[in-house]
Amino acid sequence: EKGGWSSFMRKEVSEQPEAVANTLRGRVVDGAVVIPELEGFGDDELRGIRRITVIACGTASYAGMVAKYAIEQWARIPVEVELSHEFRYREPVLDADTLVVSISQSGETMDTLMAVKYAREQGARTISICNTQGATIPRESDAVVYTHAGPEVAVASTKAFVAQITALYLFGLHLARVRGTLGEAELAAQLAELTAVPEKIEQVLGEAGKVAQLAHWMADTRSVLFLGRHVGYPIALEGALKLKELAYIHAEGFAAGELKHGPIALIEPGLPVFVVVPSPRHDRSLHPKVVSNIQEIRARGARVIAIAEAGDAAVLPFADEVVRIPLASPLFEPLLAVVPLQIFAMELSQAKGLDVDQPRNLAKSVTVE
Ligand code: F6R
Repeated sequence: EKGGWSSFMRKEVSEQPEAVANTLRGRVVDGAVVIPELEGFGDDELRGIRRITVIACGTASYAGMVAKYAIEQWARIPVEVELSHEFRYREPVLDADTLVVSISQSGETMDTLMAVKYAREQGARTISICNTQGATIPRESDAVVYTHAGPEVAVASTKAFVAQITALYLFGLHLARVRGTLGEAELAAQLAELTAVPEKIEQVLGEAGKVAQLAHWMADTRSVLFLGRHVGYPIALEGALKLKELAYIHAEGFAAGELKHGPIALIEPGLPVFVVVPSPRHDRSLHPKVVSNIQEIRARGARVIAIAEAGDAAVLPFADEVVRIPLASPLFEPLLAVVPLQIFAMELSQAKGLDVDQPRNLAKSVTVE
C-alpha cells in the first residue's frame, strides 16, 4: 500500500497537491463555488447566520484557525474556533443564528462528536468537514462537506489538513457570494488562487531535500520554537505539534507579536527558531514586523530558519537558513508554508530512528473523551 515510499507519511505528504485538487474538483464551476452537499442550507439561512463556531481538535483545530481569518475577511461573519473538549464543557452561548462547523479527518473523534451533539441539542445548525465517508460525525450533523484527501494512514495528519483548509475556503467563498460581501471579480480572483495551490505545493515539495538536511543537522536538538503571525500563527502551532508527536522534541508555537510579552526570554544561543514570514505584499504590513522579530531573536543567538516567499530578500541578512515558498496572496500562504514544517518533523523523526507512521502513545482516531 505504501507503494515505493518508506512510510505512509512520506507518501501522504507527497499527495498533498492531489488532496487539494480533489477537494476542489467539481466544486468550482464557471468561476463560482458549487457545493451540492449544502443544499439543505438555503441562501436565506446562510444570510441569516450571525456567528460561526468552529470545533475541532489538534491539527483540525489549526485548519479552523486558518479558516477564521479567511471567512471573516471574505464573508464578514465573526468566527470563533474552539477545541471540542473545551467547548462542550463551558456552557457556550448558542442559538439558531449560530452555525457550528466541526472539522474531523476521521469523523470519529469522540470529543468532537460530543461537541456536535451538544450544539444540536442547544438548537444550533451544524456542518461537518470530514475526510471519511459515512463516519459518525457527518451522520450527526445537518450537512457534510467532504474533503477528498483519500485515506490518511499515518497517525500525523498532513494531507487531510490542507484538504480541510481547502474545503473551508470554498465554504467561505460560497458564504461571501451569498452574503454579497465579495464582488464577482474578487471572488473569481480568490478562486483562481485556490485552484493554483496544488501546483504551488508541488513546488514546495521540491525543497524537501534542503529541509531534510536541516533536520539531519538538528537531530540532537532538545527544543524548537515556531513563530508566525496572522495565518502564519496557526501554521507555527501546527509545526510545533508535528515535531512533538513525531520526533518527541519539546516544541512551541507562538504568535510572533507575543514574543515581547514573555516568550523572548526563552531565546538562547543555538536555539532553532522557525519563522513563518508573511508575504511582503501583506496589506497590513506585517512583513517588516516579523523581520524585526527575526533580528531580535538572532541578536540573542538563536538559529533562525525562515519560511519565506520567493524573492523576499529582507530576511536574507538575518536568517541562518531560508526555505522558499512560491508567491501567493497572504490567505493562501498557510497551504504552502505548512509543507516544509511537516517534512522537517518527519525527517527529524526518521533521523532519530523513530516510527514515523505510528508515534508512541498515539492512535489515529481518538474515540475516547
Ligand atoms: C495531529 C493529529 C491530531 C488530529 C486530532 C483530530 O497530527 O493527527 O491532532 O488532528 O486528533 O483528529 P480528527 O481530525 O480525526 O478529528
